[in-house]
Amino acid sequence: MKKIYIASDHAGYSLKNFIFEKLKTKFDIMDLGTNKKSVSVNYPTYAHKLSKMVSKKKSNVGILICGSGLGMSMAANRHKKIRAALCYSIKNAKLSRLHNDANVITLGERLTNKSLAMKCVNTFLKTNFEGGRHLKRVKRI
Ligand code: RB5
Repeated sequence: MKKIYIASDHAGYSLKNFIFEKLKTKFDIMDLGTNKKSVSVNYPTYAHKLSKMVSKKKSNVGILICGSGLGMSMAANRHKKIRAALCYSIKNAKLSRLHNDANVITLGERLTNKSLAMKCVNTFLKTNFEGGRHLKRVKRI
């Protein structure tokens, strides 16, 4: 069973909790913080914490949320074994798995509503990498 790690900064806190509650009965999921909406924190702290955990095993996946999803994806993608995809539609969540073998999805709480964010996460989790011609490209990243 795949292990899911989830983390956010203060700006992604509400969406993180919403997604965590939806997934916790169906998956092995660990919340890496932040634990307060009222305290402003730095998104790279959480992106790096989660990326280190996801990097430990090939089957691990991560969900990172900040205000826009941008900072989290930039920070996570500094890690060699991380392919983080900023997702804002069901289609791009699906493609991030099919073509890019993304192992982290990033979301922006200020830009993506809860319902769409949840659909992106569900699509991300259930879609497998297509491999084939995409494998050699992913290897070149
Ligand atoms: C915090 O205000 C905000 O800058 C952060 O959550 C994120 O959107 C950065 O990319």
